[in-house]
Amino acid sequence: MSIRRIAINTGGGDAPGLNAVIRACTLAAINRGWECYGLRDGFNGVFFPERYEDGGLMRLTRDRVRGIAHLGGTMLGTTNKGNPLSFPLHLPDGTTKEIDRSGEIVEFFAKKHLDALISIGGDGSLTIAHALGKLGLKVIGVPKTIDNDLDKTFTTFGFDTAVSFATECLDRLHTTAESHQRLIVVEMMGRYAGWIALHSGIAGGAHAILLPEIPFDLDKVAEKIRQRDEYGRGYSLVVVAEGARVIDGQHAVLAQAEAGQAERLGGIGELVSRALSAKTGKEARTVVLGHLVRGGSPTSFDRLAALRFGAAAVRALEEGMTDVMVSLAHPNVQYVPLEQVAGRMKAVPLECDTIATGRDIGVCFGD
Ligand code: F6P
Repeated sequence: MSIRRIAINTGGGDAPGLNAVIRACTLAAINRGWECYGLRDGFNGVFFPERYEDGGLMRLTRDRVRGIAHLGGTMLGTTNKGNPLSFPLHLPDGTTKEIDRSGEIVEFFAKKHLDALISIGGDGSLTIAHALGKLGLKVIGVPKTIDNDLDKTFTTFGFDTAVSFATECLDRLHTTAESHQRLIVVEMMGRYAGWIALHSGIAGGAHAILLPEIPFDLDKVAEKIRQRDEYGRGYSLVVVAEGARVIDGQHAVLAQAEAGQAERLGGIGELVSRALSAKTGKEARTVVLGHLVRGGSPTSFDRLAALRFGAAAVRALEEGMTDVMVSLAHPNVQYVPLEQVAGRMKAVPLECDTIATGRDIGVCFGD
């Protein structure tokens, strides 16, 4: 079956570079004589078409995607609610049941004469894409997440922007921490992987970096802070990944998981800050970078990766591929089966040279 009409969607948390992927997909499709559409707000365009003037399906034209590659966010909208594989159905008795609505997406594509889906997302969205592929829909995945926790790609787009911004924040925090001789604890996003915390922490000169991959002992971190005080440094910067936890401890959770949604992590920064202040006697402050690291314009690296991913996704469809993810592998993009990506998290390998570098230059990992 030759391709004539395709749709794109963006799912899960937004990441800088989404609009660049949308632009590249759209232009690459139009340049092949195809029509290109965008599903609104994840799959809400399919499930709630009445909410949208365009019936949940936005026609993407050259005009619509002009001048968007450098803009953060996603012009199509996104959501991390309403996972089609475990969609929350509210019953009259007040309880909620999870149902699989993926078949409705395949029917929607048939009804709208759409030949393929390019799904831009993280682990959750790519798991859904793989399930749709198994139902016979032509799907190509594009790896998006600031967390960089997707397997089988050198990096995801959005990660470089998050790390660059977080590094700049650390640069700024050095000067105020040093002026006041304080301890500043900086909590970073990243879910259960420590990529953002590790890369920005090393680049930004953090004195201790606490990662989900290395459960920590606060006494070791307090010792590092005391040593710095003894050497006359007087201030310390501690980076804590939101998914980090003390040895034998639990993750800090802001909100429990609801139907089809993940739990919301957060709060470990303040816990660490208070505990270290108590152990060292130092005045401490906590900074939660939160959503600041995923807002704003993509770096040139992310912009280029996103444009390359978008164009490569369209080439994959032209070449008859399906159920694959576009992946960055120097020097070219490659394609990997979605099966090898869905449901697999890429944690920071303990033996990676970035951690070794940190240890060589005296960073404390709390182990
Ligand atoms: O996956 C990206 C991410 O920003 C994580 O780092 C963070 O835990 C999560 O999304 C927050 O999501 P939200 O606040 O949009 O629910």
